[in-house]
Amino acid sequence: MRTPIIAGNWKMNKHLEDAIALAEAVASATSDVKNVDVVVAPTFVCLASVASALEGTHVGVAAQNMHTATSGAFTGEISPTMLTDVGCGHVILGHSERRQFFGETDRGVNEKAKVALAHGLIPIICIGESLGEREAEQTMDKVSFQVTAALSGIGEEDITKVVLAYEPIWAIGTGKTATPEQAQEVHASIRALLAQLYSEDIAQQIRIQYGGSVKPANIADLISQPDIDGALVGGASLKADSFSQIVMASDKG
Ligand code: PGA
Repeated sequence: MRTPIIAGNWKMNKHLEDAIALAEAVASATSDVKNVDVVVAPTFVCLASVASALEGTHVGVAAQNMHTATSGAFTGEISPTMLTDVGCGHVILGHSERRQFFGETDRGVNEKAKVALAHGLIPIICIGESLGEREAEQTMDKVSFQVTAALSGIGEEDITKVVLAYEPIWAIGTGKTATPEQAQEVHASIRALLAQLYSEDIAQQIRIQYGGSVKPANIADLISQPDIDGALVGGASLKADSFSQIVMASDKG
């Protein structure tokens, strides 16, 4: 049985005071949750304060990106050990906005994922097709390529720690969610691919989140799909009540 994981991707939102307040409100509103991993991803500059505000709670902290080196002449970048130092346990990698606006490549995402694992960080690796690719019926080709590339060289000892986030790009921030059936179809194909790359047993242990306009109104239908193991939530994670409702609805007991 896979424990669902709900992660709030705050993107470039929430200044320090609001970030701490939101984190505390999420922790308190979801304190009864039993069987869901809950993570929030503030901006780099809020990570340390949010992590310390959440210390001792069930809510973990994720970064939204990471460099591969531990330190060095990489102006503007943040290293994996800088993340672990401040109490970060997860890192979102290869979000479509990073691929689109900041030139992230499949190869770079793979490098980062391996480095994250080596430093004890859980990578949340984002994959997903554009609207054009979906319309051209290239969804599975695109997603399979991204998953295979992202996981290249990750061995059996580490792979079950990895979280995948299937996020159709056309559903991110648009209010258009994939239907539960559309999402399930892709999730099931990803799991079949994982079984080919590793084994059926391992594939059954890997968590695959759905992302793209997840909100309290649609989480129940999404999470009830057999291969949807949580959500990566953008807009609806910026309010404690909507994010907490999503968390609570994902508690399968
Ligand atoms: P959204 O964003 O929930 O606002 O669509 C999801 C994401 O980008 O991770």
